[in-house]
Amino acid sequence: MQVILRQLGDCNIRRAEPSDLISVMEINLKTLPEHYSDYFYESLLSELPEAFLVAEIGRKHVGYIMCKTEFGFSNFKKLGFVKKGHVVSIAVVEEHRKKGIGNALVEESVNGVKLRKCDEFYLEVRCSNTEAVRLYEKQGFVIRQQLNAYYRDGEDAYLMAIEL
Ligand code: ACO
Ligand code: ZN
Repeated sequence: MQVILRQLGDCNIRRAEPSDLISVMEINLKTLPEHYSDYFYESLLSELPEAFLVAEIGRKHVGYIMCKTEFGFSNFKKLGFVKKGHVVSIAVVEEHRKKGIGNALVEESVNGVKLRKCDEFYLEVRCSNTEAVRLYEKQGFVIRQQLNAYYRDGEDAYLMAIEL
């Protein structure tokens, strides 16, 4: 059964299902240079469905966020070993940006990783992606590191993180 997590006007945010993955891959192809295998999408959905979310207007998919969990060194505590949520990818189709959909996807994924008792949530974002950096900052993420030549084209990433 589909459970709607949030409604923003005519846009519903809900957990993804296997039948949503083709549309999610299409949005990813249109909006971002980082792409993944079918298997990777399927494994994120089966491992962390609480934070693999889609935004839908009517029957049209307009955005997604997908995440995973990891154990590793804290982005905040010196030598701390923690459980971390990791935003692998988020996108909203161009026609439906600046309506709060990206914001809602991030907020609802925070709730999702909290259900899995993560201590922190983090992501990497291109330093030039000011739109996304600002969105994450508004959600309370802070820049913790600059990762040199993180992307294939040589651009640096900011590692941004939040304590949950
Ligand atoms: N009317 C006018 N403006 C609004 C409204 C509204 N009703 N609601 C929100 N906004 C504004 C927000 O205040 C914000 O503006 P500001 O930053 O100037 O304050 C802006 O719209 C964006 O907020 P949202 O609408 O919540 O975000 P959006 O749905 O546009 O999605 C996203 C943001 C996901 C970054 C989008 O631009 C996108 O898909 N970009 C391409 C893909 C991308 O870069 N993804 C992130 C890569 S990093 C990673 O994946 C970990
Ligand atoms: Zn990442």
